[in-house]
Amino acid sequence: RTVRLADYRLPDFLIDAVDLHFDLREDGATVTSRLTMRRNPATSDPAAPLVLDGQDLRLTRVALDGEALGDNRYTVDAEHLTLPGLPQSFTLEITTEIEPQKNTSLQGLYTSGGNFCTQCEAEGFRHITYYLDRPDVLARYTTTIVADKAKVPVLLSNGNPVGAGETEGGRHWAKWEDPFPKPSYLFALVAGDLVAVEDSFTTRSGRPIDLKIFTRKGDETKVSHAMRSLKASMAWDEQAYGFEYDLDLFMIVAVSDFNMGAMENKGLNIFNTALVLASRETATDGDFQRVESVVAHEYFHNWTGNRITCRDWFQLSLKEGLTVFRDQEFSADENSRPVQRIADVRRLRAIQFPEDAGPIAHPIRPESYIEINNFYTPTVYEKGAEVIRMIHTLLGAEGYRKGIDLYVERHDGQAATCENFVAAMEDASGVDLTLFRRWYSQAGTPEITAEEEWDAAAGRYSLTLAQATAPTPGQPDKQPLHIPMALGLLDAQGRDLLVRLAGEAEAKPGTRVLSLTEGRQRFVFEGLAGRPVPSLFRGFSAPIKLAPQPRERLAFLFAHDSDPFNRWEAGQQLAAQLLLEGVAARKAGRHWTLDPEFVTAVGRLLEDKALDAAFVAEAMALPGESFLADQMAVIDVEGIHAVREAARLAIATALRDCLLALYRANDDRGPFDVSAAAVGRRALKNACLAALGLLQGDAEATTLVLDQARTASTMTDVLAALTVLRDRDIPERAEALEAFYAKWQDEPLVVDKWFALQATSALPGTLDAIKALTRHPAFTLRNPNRARALISSLAMGNPLHFHAADGSGYAFLADQVLALNGPNPQLAARILVPLGRWQRHEPGRQAAMKAELDRILAAPDLSRDVYEIAAKSRA
Ligand code: ARG
Ligand code: ZN
Repeated sequence: RTVRLADYRLPDFLIDAVDLHFDLREDGATVTSRLTMRRNPATSDPAAPLVLDGQDLRLTRVALDGEALGDNRYTVDAEHLTLPGLPQSFTLEITTEIEPQKNTSLQGLYTSGGNFCTQCEAEGFRHITYYLDRPDVLARYTTTIVADKAKVPVLLSNGNPVGAGETEGGRHWAKWEDPFPKPSYLFALVAGDLVAVEDSFTTRSGRPIDLKIFTRKGDETKVSHAMRSLKASMAWDEQAYGFEYDLDLFMIVAVSDFNMGAMENKGLNIFNTALVLASRETATDGDFQRVESVVAHEYFHNWTGNRITCRDWFQLSLKEGLTVFRDQEFSADENSRPVQRIADVRRLRAIQFPEDAGPIAHPIRPESYIEINNFYTPTVYEKGAEVIRMIHTLLGAEGYRKGIDLYVERHDGQAATCENFVAAMEDASGVDLTLFRRWYSQAGTPEITAEEEWDAAAGRYSLTLAQATAPTPGQPDKQPLHIPMALGLLDAQGRDLLVRLAGEAEAKPGTRVLSLTEGRQRFVFEGLAGRPVPSLFRGFSAPIKLAPQPRERLAFLFAHDSDPFNRWEAGQQLAAQLLLEGVAARKAGRHWTLDPEFVTAVGRLLEDKALDAAFVAEAMALPGESFLADQMAVIDVEGIHAVREAARLAIATALRDCLLALYRANDDRGPFDVSAAAVGRRALKNACLAALGLLQGDAEATTLVLDQARTASTMTDVLAALTVLRDRDIPERAEALEAFYAKWQDEPLVVDKWFALQATSALPGTLDAIKALTRHPAFTLRNPNRARALISSLAMGNPLHFHAADGSGYAFLADQVLALNGPNPQLAARILVPLGRWQRHEPGRQAAMKAELDRILAAPDLSRDVYEIAAKSRA
């Protein structure tokens, strides 16, 4: 059953108010809802029956305007409650019985570690009560929660607390009221034994806001970073967007069993513990940065998502792409802008480019789905953010801000569409976005080629750019897109030239943004004294693939580009070309060694004192195996791994002394902080350690690794050392892993790291080790973090073993998908995705992957979630 964007219809009924009552018990929950409803004056069918969504509910009472209805007045099927013949306006009371304790799907109302919590986006609310569970029905909510006072002392919902008290039998209640109309997916309830860390923030208009972060007892020591991030986000959103918080209270709750990262429920964000808890001992710098960005992301949704929500789920990128762009910019302002951009592009390439090239490729505004949960994708989120970034680039900061202001002026309090957003941007700025809209409807990554001409006599340089997008499922013919290209021209010394396009009166300094709107387009620059070196798509100004550039040029840009992103990018592209050449040579049985000039260039990078440590760490890292695979027509799994490792070893061997000196220079033992500078130094130190750790016979290097594993005081450093040991077949490996587990077995998020570490090892026998780990007492498929730590770490972080030629990795993954299909379909579908990426593997692996997809498709009781991904992957 496919849902289509083209079939959107206004709701026949509106809900003005919802009064919810939850009776929470150890054996289940009773939910009573009182809906104040009326027919939608805008509907096309004034006599339509009321069709409410509901799943896995036991309906015990329906009453219309206070009178209980007999079961001849309504019908119930597996997904609906239908009431015909209703008046213009009425109140409807519905009572349902549910079993949160048995809810393993982690959507709707469920329990995690004995506490009650909810996840309603996208369609979880229908697992709580019958409702118009669609984002364009906005209602005012009041919520009363009743539970045992001793066992469930904390009772939370959206909005403001408006009452509390005790009842007989040791029970108590709390009532919450949310003054802002909202769709059901933003509803939240949390009830349990929790402790709060409190703080406050005063808005720019002087309103004090209470901030509370709730955790289980013992975890309250790990929320200071999240709290600091929250306050920084609140200040940033006022300053950058003029968005001020609108309730008197903002709460975050940390939950261990959570399918996704976090959820922006109005006034009551619910977070995966992995994205809120952080301490020096238990979290890496990467974890700290993710906490900061996800806290910001969910907070930013208060305006971009909650105040202005989505008309339907096809518009998901309206809130997600925009909010990811906002959190990326926040992180760039809080930390290092270039390093943030590099990380964001790395991520886009690692997770979105393969999606765009695979069987579930879809535009950022999909046109159809079977299960909406499958469309919380890197395309909707990360590519969606790139699309907003391109609008920002085309309009400029001022035009973009005017566009945002107009968007809010027009749509605050509404359920809007992507088209509404683009129209506001266009109307406010005067920039024509007609062609640009194709980014919303066309899937696939455009490929760009560049040709140059240089007329020395005329001082004229021309650049001809051509774009093409390969067909994607359901979209055989692609149209040209409106692509912003940020360009710099460099002179022979590597300095930025003044740029004057033919026809312009004056040359302008620095980076210029050109609009590529045709399939093939020529740009002419005049008034040049010598042949310029172009630096194309500075800052990654569009989510495209640029055809390979000449090597000398890449080497030049790697050494000189003033745009730090492109300097990094030139190094990556150069390395990719060299490594792919190595893969081809290895395949042909030819000898290959890494170009010594590249090694020299890396050496110069390491010695460049003017560069930021974090940038050097990024620039010295070779492109990852999946990035390299992405550039091959037929992926050579072993070849990529072998050549990349050989290149790493060559660099480490040649630059050993320099790496050692740099390691020592960046080894701070002072007080801990997560400033960009401190994080950068740790990143560089550990990049050096990773390289030195490859020198197997080097006693000094090995001692360094072992010492760091044993004595480091931050999780970043401990894990960096263990990552080296992970891939070394020495007795100290097992000792270090055992010691780590013994020390951290009571910290679930650290145990996740322990599983993930072993799942990403390159050593032979890794799959058997993973299989053994599935029988470890600490392993469970029921906790999504734990399941992902072992299974997705293999499938997404260990190509060598996941793509083992005998198909054993695929069979293992399919077994896990089938085991999760019943209990947690959403997670099952998500871990299945890598099995669909068979297109560019050799025939043997293709057949093995398809066979596992077929095995999944043949299984009984397949969930909608798993069916959709498996069927589309097999097609
Ligand atoms: N809106 C949440 C976030 O970004 C994600 C919720 C995803 N939920 C789901 N069932 N797929 O920020
Ligand atoms: Zn989001």
